[in-house]
Amino acid sequence: MNIKIKVNGQLRSVEVEHNTTLLQVIRKDLNITSPKSGCEKGECGACTVLLDGKPITSCLVLAFTVDGSEITTLEGITPKDGLNPIQKGLINAGGIQCGFCTPGFIMSGHNFFSKKEDFTIDELKRALSGNLCRCTGYKKIVDGMLLAAKEMGIKVKK
Ligand code: FES
Ligand code: FES
Repeated sequence: MNIKIKVNGQLRSVEVEHNTTLLQVIRKDLNITSPKSGCEKGECGACTVLLDGKPITSCLVLAFTVDGSEITTLEGITPKDGLNPIQKGLINAGGIQCGFCTPGFIMSGHNFFSKKEDFTIDELKRALSGNLCRCTGYKKIVDGMLLAAKEMGIKVKK
């Protein structure tokens, strides 16, 4: 069957099977590679994208169910000529090693910050709790998010 989705602002038309996942469409059909294929069970968060503005694990979403929807990946929130504040924050805090988990963390962080004028560290940790990292450790990732929040003028509540 054919589905039409808007991906990072561009209308795309894709032929899918009944069991094709959104992650497969994004990576294989559209050749957008920031969402990673990790566990494919909804546990690691490496495949996180925004579906109509909400973060989802795209490995668990069947593509035909999102016909007519809007999808945003890391490519869609990265300026053409540079990096977004979360990317910069993670680099500066040493919050990236292999980088496999990084796009998923950034999408979760981006969604969190897009709704906040201020936040607590616990709220931030909760927002990132669906994303797993096997190598960097979470402290530096949280530190990177805090640097990003500072750059964006979003305050930490005491
Ligand atoms: S690959 Fe989707 S949650 Fe792990
Ligand atoms: S940086 Fe390697 S899994 Fe997170």
